[in-house]
Amino acid sequence: MDGSTRRVRVACLVAAALLGWTSVQAAAPPHLRKQGSATQLIVDDQPFLLLGGELHNSSASSLAYLDKLWPTLKAAEVNTVLAPVEWDQIEPMEGRFDFTVLDGVLKQARAHDTRLVLLWFGAWKNSMSTYAPAWVKQDTQRFPRAQTRAGVPQDILTPFAPATLAADSAAYRALLAHLKQADTQHTVLMIQVENEIGMLPEVRDYSAAANAAWHAPVPAALTMYLAAHQDTLQPALKAAWQTRGARTSGTWTEVFGDTIDTEEIFQAWHYAQFVEALTAAGKAVYPLPMYVNVALNRPGKRPGEYPSAGPLPHLFDVWKPGAPSVDVLAIDTYFPNFIHWAKQFKRPDNPLFIPEANHAERPDAGADAFYAIGEHDAFGFSPFAIDDIKGGNSSLPQAYRVLKQLAPLINRYQGSGKVRGFKAPLSYDGDVDAAPQQVRMGGYTLQVSFNAPWEKLTPAEVQTRGGLVIQSGDDEFLVAGKGLTIVFGSADGAMVGIEQATEGLDDKGRWLNGDETHQGRHIGLPGDAYTIQRVKLYRYR
Ligand code: DGJ
Repeated sequence: MDGSTRRVRVACLVAAALLGWTSVQAAAPPHLRKQGSATQLIVDDQPFLLLGGELHNSSASSLAYLDKLWPTLKAAEVNTVLAPVEWDQIEPMEGRFDFTVLDGVLKQARAHDTRLVLLWFGAWKNSMSTYAPAWVKQDTQRFPRAQTRAGVPQDILTPFAPATLAADSAAYRALLAHLKQADTQHTVLMIQVENEIGMLPEVRDYSAAANAAWHAPVPAALTMYLAAHQDTLQPALKAAWQTRGARTSGTWTEVFGDTIDTEEIFQAWHYAQFVEALTAAGKAVYPLPMYVNVALNRPGKRPGEYPSAGPLPHLFDVWKPGAPSVDVLAIDTYFPNFIHWAKQFKRPDNPLFIPEANHAERPDAGADAFYAIGEHDAFGFSPFAIDDIKGGNSSLPQAYRVLKQLAPLINRYQGSGKVRGFKAPLSYDGDVDAAPQQVRMGGYTLQVSFNAPWEKLTPAEVQTRGGLVIQSGDDEFLVAGKGLTIVFGSADGAMVGIEQATEGLDDKGRWLNGDETHQGRHIGLPGDAYTIQRVKLYRYR
């Protein structure tokens, strides 16, 4: 480089630096990244603990209506709002897109420093097809309906119509293309593909196209997956397949048996394939993380009696090979036995994300958030009906305020085995199991109770309690939540004492001793609020 070239280059660098152009690399779009056993949502190159809430279905369809909700959403302490995007609203005429409302939603969210997850209400919303535009609804020749066994058409688009997939995909692609250029600041973190897909009132579609597919061979992609995952298959599917000889080819009834369960497997495969094509089409334009959500099946109900063939645990081994582009099979939980279900959705091939964790204003919402994040590495939690939060004192905002403080530590330790979550399990009928829980963390044992020795609680009060523990050093723990009593012991028989317990994460909190630690016998988190304590232990013999 000669002197004058060097001078020009230096001058350019100085000018660029003055204008703030240098070393400003655009952050990658939001994506998922593994950390040990956890999967984290990476936003602007940093892990992001999604503390969300889902709006009522129609709240984001009117900018004037949504605008009035922000004080409530801010009081709810959410960092992310889950908001629908409606196919009929963005594509009122075929090929003519109108993103005015979506752009307004983006603008409002940014003005309130809040991120968004968008819910694509396309071909299906809760089994039905009510969000399809009029030009789809009215053209049943081009966009045929699913039918019952008796041939009665339903207000449900059949997944066996290529024209429906093409139309839904075109709209979805347009949405992603719009976001790619209109959301360079990454306000939108993820997209939910459709909503609670599931066949009703019968187990499968019996339209002519569906019946033709029913008599066709099972696709090799499914049987090859079954053969490759024999050790981890879901029990019912595994039994159905293995008792028929673990065949790698044949019709649906030959491979799985002539049962209603096989009809559900068949329908699940075809839903999954539709969603796969849609998801892949969207990702090809703008590769945001994408997930599907599912309505759970009530105990004792048979396929056809619940929204069937969605990504339910007993069908994971159909949905995983059927829709490999989908990042997360996500759970909507409206039953009391949250723990029973949440456990099943955390697998090495599936991170836990809960887009609809029952209703936002319930008294145990916060405890569920702590449990899911602490025990199952959930990267996000979001109850439904966040519009209904009544001020900042309900369980959810209280919990979110504390989880926000803990987020950097949770993000750091998630997936390393150093984070555990606690909540008393409920049965489907709502009975609570308040027995103390024992875990080992490093060289210590923890006995976690949901009441202090002197407290007599009602089952309803026990349900509102929960929390998490992070092991932040060999002898150091962070304990957070509400109403937990923790007795520390050692794994090697040494006696354990509390060297120091301190309130909060900074050095402004009280030193806790005396009555606050029951004279050194245990750590106690008060039962009337979510709080944090830092704990240092020592051993003696
Ligand atoms: C589950 C659905 O996914 C939501 O969109 C909403 O309809 C709720 N049910 C209502 O409880």
